[in-house]
Amino acid sequence: MRFDRKKILLVDDNPVNLKLARNTLMGFYDVFTVPNAEKMFLFLEKTLPDMILLDVLMPGINGYEAMRRLMGDDRTKHIPVIFLTSMADMGSEMEGLSLGAVDYIAKPFIPQLLLKRVETHMLMEAQKEELKYINANLERIVQAKTSAVLELQNAVLATVSELVECRDDITGGHVERTSRTMRKLVSEMMKQGVYLDELSSWDIELFLQSSQLHDVGKISIHDDILLKPGKLTKEEFEEMKKHALFGEEIIDRIQRNTSENVFLTHAKILAGSHHEKWDGSGYPRGTVGENIPLQGRLMAIADVYDALVSKRPYKEAFSHEMAMRIINESRGTHFDPAILDAFVSAFDSEEHSA
Ligand SMILES: [Fe+2]
Repeated sequence: MRFDRKKILLVDDNPVNLKLARNTLMGFYDVFTVPNAEKMFLFLEKTLPDMILLDVLMPGINGYEAMRRLMGDDRTKHIPVIFLTSMADMGSEMEGLSLGAVDYIAKPFIPQLLLKRVETHMLMEAQKEELKYINANLERIVQAKTSAVLELQNAVLATVSELVECRDDITGGHVERTSRTMRKLVSEMMKQGVYLDELSSWDIELFLQSSQLHDVGKISIHDDILLKPGKLTKEEFEEMKKHALFGEEIIDRIQRNTSENVFLTHAKILAGSHHEKWDGSGYPRGTVGENIPLQGRLMAIADVYDALVSKRPYKEAFSHEMAMRIINESRGTHFDPAILDAFVSAFDSEEHSA
């Protein structure tokens, strides 16, 4: 037996037919013969052929019933079956084909014609396999390209957020910590079903990544203001407030040079809305309640929490308990009460480190 040859199983109760078909095909394929469907199933337990030529009228299980069983079994449903039909069951060809047979050949068959039909179907099967292989490869290529783009996006993102952070936060790590706090908050909200409809429609990983750009507008704020150790004057604070709209503009400029991108959409909303307050006293637009994008309402809490528990040029780091007390005092004024409650239980339900 040569291993590169395709295997064909012939199933027919007529020994003359079996012999003729075998002699026709054996020069090109490894041919196996069985006299009925019962023997065919026994054969299939050990060997899976590349094609089955199946007689319809046989004692015991007939060809159609055998076909149904072949199609119902994951191991055998992919094997192409050609029915061998005599004049007596010609009327049932449609039934055979609708059961999943790839073709039928009328008996008595002309040997050369049988060989040609078998060759054609073997070729079609080989092409199907090749297509499957090409498709799988295409998927791999697309995946590789996609991850290369994501890698680039992450590298640019990490660098930009580091740049912002270097200028703004002498303790460092604010962006990364805030993103971790956001993850904790979002997963608690999803667990509790808080704003679940909207959160479920997001790609959370993408959203968390984009949250790293929320303060990108600080690139445009002068060092004298950004790094001032004391309290800002009214004018300086007005200048500082501009970072929200600057951030929006920066991301808008990137958006104009790229195709539709969910990551940037989140980033732009976050940059422009993370200083809005629930009661409308925030900036830059003074938006109220649920009119503030959900992204901004989430960021507001994570951002303030991190500022409180971090050492800044103008203050020492507060403990977690102290930070939570301060945040709770702004429930319903600065912060969305539903999100704040989820924030509190997110910390309650796990160990925290201040
Ligand atoms: Fe900010």
